[in-house]
Amino acid sequence: VLDEWMNMSEILDRTIIVGGAGALGSYADFGVRKDRESLDVSNLASVRAVFKELEPKAVLHLAAETDAGKCEDDPAHACLVNAVGTYHVALAAREAGARMVYVSSAGVFGGDKIGAYGEDDLPDPPNVYGHSKYLGELAVRGLLENHLIVRPCWIFGGGAARDKKFVGKIMAQVRNPETKELRATGDEIGSPTYAKDLMGRLRELVQGDERGVVHVANAGGASRFEVAQFIAGIVAPNLPVASVPLALFNLKTKITKNQVLSSRIGLMRPWQEALREYLEKEW
Ligand SMILES: NC(=O)c1ccc[n+]([C@@H]2O[C@H](COP(=O)([O-])OP(=O)(O)OC[C@H]3O[C@@H](n4cnc5c(N)ncnc54)[C@H](OP(=O)(O)O)[C@@H]3O)[C@@H](O)[C@H]2O)c1
Repeated sequence: VLDEWMNMSEILDRTIIVGGAGALGSYADFGVRKDRESLDVSNLASVRAVFKELEPKAVLHLAAETDAGKCEDDPAHACLVNAVGTYHVALAAREAGARMVYVSSAGVFGGDKIGAYGEDDLPDPPNVYGHSKYLGELAVRGLLENHLIVRPCWIFGGGAARDKKFVGKIMAQVRNPETKELRATGDEIGSPTYAKDLMGRLRELVQGDERGVVHVANAGGASRFEVAQFIAGIVAPNLPVASVPLALFNLKTKITKNQVLSSRIGLMRPWQEALREYLEKEW
């Protein structure tokens, strides 16, 4: 038992976390975190140099261009970071004999399904971001056997300093005294997922031997409107919340309307419980 424990803690100590300075990476309490400056995934020589120096047993790859609008405007950049960058990390992991856990996205799905997306559903990305993340998956799958592709959805985390996503935007509006009403889409649904819970699961999966694709999300689907309503209910009960259609925002990026996930390894605690904890502890 002691040998097994020593082996597991060695795997965690010798895990490179690529993209470790991002919103999700900031929750990692293990491994060696690398930011873009110390490991640029678009540069194969930079990736190889870090792997040669650290001789990792595992790599947790989180780095990505996550701005979907930027990806739409500059597909070459999106592909360089998300697809070719992931190819570079997978290549270096193979050369080092390391296990690779790649964080992909529920955004690889088309969004037309009625019901939750499972691991066996066929990706059909609706936009450049989704295509580039799926190409990353194909690179990982094609290059090394000891790999796991993890698809989360609608991550929240980082608190006031880092949270630039939906929950952060809603909180910024709540804190703005000019705000008279919150508006959020009622026809866009997903599985809100706390970065802290996701990182806990990633920690287990890095040490484990699960392979292929797994979905990791908090339990329960919701629309953006329902999430905004839940937040307001806790932090600003008198602020009205309106449900609006996605079409109102006239976005240039086609959005996956349904990103709700099911999971073959089981979903985590309900999103409401996780979001309440996030608001209470980090805001
Ligand atoms: N947020 C979500 O709702 C969501 C949902 C599903 C899946 N995901 C996936 O989860 C992962 C983590 O997302 P996140 O929310 O933590 O995003 P994030 O805060 O944007 O973090 C991404 C990190 O990648 C880094 N990066 C960008 N280009 C790089 C490059 N060329 N080389 C090395 N690092 C680079 C960024 O560094 P800079 O800040 O210096 O550019 C940033 O620290 C991503 O793979 C994303 O696709 C996110």
